[in-house]
Amino acid sequence: MFRRDLLFGGAALLGAAGLARLGSAMAPPGAQELVIQPATYQLRQQRTAGMVSLSPDAPPPVLYGRQGQEMRFTVRNTLDDYTAMHWHGLRIANAMDGVPYLTQMPIGPDEGFAYAFTPPDAGTYWYHPHCMTMEQMAHGLTGVMVIAEAEDPGFDTEQVINLRDFRLDAVDAFLPDYTARGAARGGTMGNVQTANWRQGPVYDHGAGSLVRLRVVNTDTTRIYNLYLDGGTARIIAWDGHPVTVEVPVPRAGAPLLLAPGQRVDLAVTMPVEEGRQLGLMADLPGRPPRLMAGLRAVGSGPKRDMAELKPLGRNPLSQPDLERAEMHEFVFGWTPEGNAPNDGVCGTPGYSFWSINRIPWPGDAAEGTGPLAVLERGKTHVLRLRNESPNLHPIHLHGLAFVPLRSSLRKLPPLWTDTMLLLKDEVIDIALVADNPGDWAFHCHVIEHQKTGLTGFLRVT
Ligand code: C2O
Ligand code: CU
Ligand code: CU
Repeated sequence: MFRRDLLFGGAALLGAAGLARLGSAMAPPGAQELVIQPATYQLRQQRTAGMVSLSPDAPPPVLYGRQGQEMRFTVRNTLDDYTAMHWHGLRIANAMDGVPYLTQMPIGPDEGFAYAFTPPDAGTYWYHPHCMTMEQMAHGLTGVMVIAEAEDPGFDTEQVINLRDFRLDAVDAFLPDYTARGAARGGTMGNVQTANWRQGPVYDHGAGSLVRLRVVNTDTTRIYNLYLDGGTARIIAWDGHPVTVEVPVPRAGAPLLLAPGQRVDLAVTMPVEEGRQLGLMADLPGRPPRLMAGLRAVGSGPKRDMAELKPLGRNPLSQPDLERAEMHEFVFGWTPEGNAPNDGVCGTPGYSFWSINRIPWPGDAAEGTGPLAVLERGKTHVLRLRNESPNLHPIHLHGLAFVPLRSSLRKLPPLWTDTMLLLKDEVIDIALVADNPGDWAFHCHVIEHQKTGLTGFLRVT
């Protein structure tokens, strides 16, 4: 049965809107309300109208949770358009994953949806809509989620950095979200670089203190080249999961590539000289965010040492059994015969440039969209990801974490992730245990690529 039969079949009984509202009818008490709404904000010289956030005049807040504890959100939509909220990287129940037509009906204007889930993993994650994605994400609706470890790892402070661009004209109004030219190539870059919606913000942390820096790339297009221009730092987590192997500290000349969707957690020891600043360089024309060694808290001890840091507790990831793995291949490239139409639902532009296994995504509500692969539940699967294009693609899988095994081009550390950057012509094998049942979206996180064909889903059953 096709997705549409299934969902519209159900919807015929309930009414399409009824299905979307079913969630809020069952809204559990104590849910945090997230109201998707228009916003204005001064990103540059003048206030920019037409932004999308969860309040009228501020960036989407950091949402905090704790590993193993339930989180409840009622998402209310006050826009004139459809939406659905996705929790990027969280391995939660499929029905809460927020993908229109795949896991729920889109949330219409004046409708709501109640999300409730228990994150099994600690770490740095994020949230964004999954319908009208370009329109809403490019206009601001990308926020960070912090899932605290069950046991406090003992930092003095922490700093969240949400890196993203906006595309503004000379009077700080939005330019078109993207161009067909960009979508068919590397993506359309923004021209105003921000951290937490600010240009070159400076964050004060006590001199000599130990800071957990959580850097999240929520941009729709840009891959950042990151490094800190001083201080002592160590990578402690990647895409939410604790790093258990030695990973080199990124530096000028050997920066860390942080692609859309990816996150890195760094432990940073602040300089002892008060007033000294550390730039989080991103090889951008804009001003980078900075950490400043501020006044030392009265009574605080001497400079904190990395060595004092105990390793982060492990997340409960199933270890792949490579001896018994099943292999699946995926080819990411252009559409076979030039532009193919798609259904224009949920912000797909009605044309495709990209495909997975030569099948361009026909649209979110389209008939005949089957899974790209069916993964037997509980088994180990190796996915061979082949990039047949000169453009870079951060390939993201919902609901499951995976680990890279090998690349045709470079040595990859075995870091658990949900978003793997494929370089030009690169082939990467990744392994996972299909331990979370459901239909999981599988797509490029350059949103223009996703919306012009480079998307699909995998079924775990
Ligand atoms: Cu960050 Cu399909 O999502
Ligand atoms: Cu996701
Ligand atoms: Cu892509």
